[in-house]
Amino acid sequence: MKPSIREVDFLVIGGGVAGLRAAIELASAGTVLVLTKDTITESSTGYAQGGIAVALSDEDEVCIHLEDTLKAGDGLCRENAVRVMVEEGPAYIRELISWGAEFDREGSRLSFTMEAAHTRRRILHSHGDSTGKEIERALIQKVRSCPSVSRLDFAFTLDLIVKDGRCLGAVVLRHDAVITIFAKVVILATGGAGQVFSRTTNPVISTGDGIAIAYRAGALIVDMEFIQFHPTTLYLPGAPQFLLSEAMRGEGAVLKNVHGERFMHTYHEMAELAPRDSVTRAILSEMVSTKARHVFLDLTHLDRAFTRNRFPQIYTTCLQYDIDITEEMIPVCPAAHYIMGGVSTNLMGETSIRGLFAAGEAACTGVHGANRLASNSLLEGLVFGARAGKGAAAFAGKEHARPAAFRPRDSSPFKKGGSPPSPFDREKVRSSLRKIMWQKAGIIRCAKSLTPARDWLSRWDFIVSTPFKTRREAELRNMLTVAQLIIRSALFRKGSVGAHYRSDYKDRGEHWKKHTACEQEKELYLID
Ligand code: FAD
Ligand code: SIN
Repeated sequence: MKPSIREVDFLVIGGGVAGLRAAIELASAGTVLVLTKDTITESSTGYAQGGIAVALSDEDEVCIHLEDTLKAGDGLCRENAVRVMVEEGPAYIRELISWGAEFDREGSRLSFTMEAAHTRRRILHSHGDSTGKEIERALIQKVRSCPSVSRLDFAFTLDLIVKDGRCLGAVVLRHDAVITIFAKVVILATGGAGQVFSRTTNPVISTGDGIAIAYRAGALIVDMEFIQFHPTTLYLPGAPQFLLSEAMRGEGAVLKNVHGERFMHTYHEMAELAPRDSVTRAILSEMVSTKARHVFLDLTHLDRAFTRNRFPQIYTTCLQYDIDITEEMIPVCPAAHYIMGGVSTNLMGETSIRGLFAAGEAACTGVHGANRLASNSLLEGLVFGARAGKGAAAFAGKEHARPAAFRPRDSSPFKKGGSPPSPFDREKVRSSLRKIMWQKAGIIRCAKSLTPARDWLSRWDFIVSTPFKTRREAELRNMLTVAQLIIRSALFRKGSVGAHYRSDYKDRGEHWKKHTACEQEKELYLID
């Protein structure tokens, strides 16, 4: 593979809501290159259904959005970050509307829906249940109007280039060619890591690359035990694990076990609108007690035309699998959905490495604490994507040297020499990893499940230092790293907080309000 070299002012890795918003902010500060590992539309952002939370309705207030977010986060939200998101959110949404994003309306007024653990109807939605697609469309259109911003699709970032604690760029694999890209500042916006679990709502791109490459580069990674499992994804053999939006319960859908009995009110006073982690565990408990692989989501009592118009994408998708959601109950089961932890950042997106910023799901601003409030992540991506852009521009303004002046002698991530690996089937390891994570580090964990998972993962440590040539191989390496961080953090937190539930430590535990911190070649430790 022959390396080539490029130089830009700002390198944005990721083209979801966070990366695109950061790029727009940077457009006036210099040349910007946005990398995506697949097409631009293949991101969690594009698949987002329910909506985007924002305190804009007449019945709502910013301080109530703040309270709901803090409550869902179960004591681990960083309040200053939440305050920034809820206070700045309305202006960013108005700006997005001014760029052409269309949200559903009742007459001329914006229409707000309800989702779990919100005490107000505050979720804006688009085309019923295709909110992410609309936000993505508006952002891509805006990016296209910025002449200083260019894009490179199918550009898989392998590793960051870091010298003396300063990030100088990244090494990228594109169609078998290696490109070294130097930049004054790099922004990581690579999204989540749901693919490390065999049941997930996340698209195939969500392999935790950004978190793994930042970890390898020496960045501080926090709160990796906090994985949010969405309660309701389609459970049908042969069908995709398609998300069935929480907004359906917000509009009156109910959960029933396989005997057709409602059960949520016996688990939580908010019944179907209880926080996501409570609903997920209740579903799991019903699945166990009824010896079934799923429960049902029932909308058949709602007006048929309303259901079809309000959830057109879900209606059409389920119909492809012969389920008419206006007439039949939908078999559903939980799946990994969102990672609350990630690359630790301050309020301007700065990580612990100079010149490296992060935003969106790959980052951890502390906004979501131990459990994300539904529909807060698109808002976080917008607000903190823009802030990371501002922070990166200010950083570049202070550090005048051209990145190439720092150019290290060898920036290739491809290991030279080394002992050849023993033969193994990478696809088999990937699949086993995903199953083990689901079974042993999933919705309910304990030392007895996590320890063998940790030991199994350590068998594959050599992959992390094995030469790799393809995106698939590099992804596996990243998935192993992220899975190890999740397991080590889950073992480390001896308590149940938010979405992290340990059957052997059901109380919150002594260090409840501390955050778990991971750094390469260090033992895990706690931070405030
Ligand atoms: P993403 O949108 O996932 O984008 C990641 C980008 O990084 C992609 O462009 C990808 O190509 C790129 N990338 C990744 N790795 C590399 C690499 N190695 N090299 C180069 N590029 C790379 N949240 C809400 O608030 N409301 C909702 O209604 C909602 N619904 C959801 C429904 C589904 C099915 C899913 C999966 C998530 C949903 N979420 C929702 C969560 C939300 O969509 C995500 O958290 C958010 O969109 C993440 O945005 P992001 O910009 O951080 O990452
Ligand atoms: C959903 O529509 O249920 C997903 C909302 C979210 O993850 O925030």
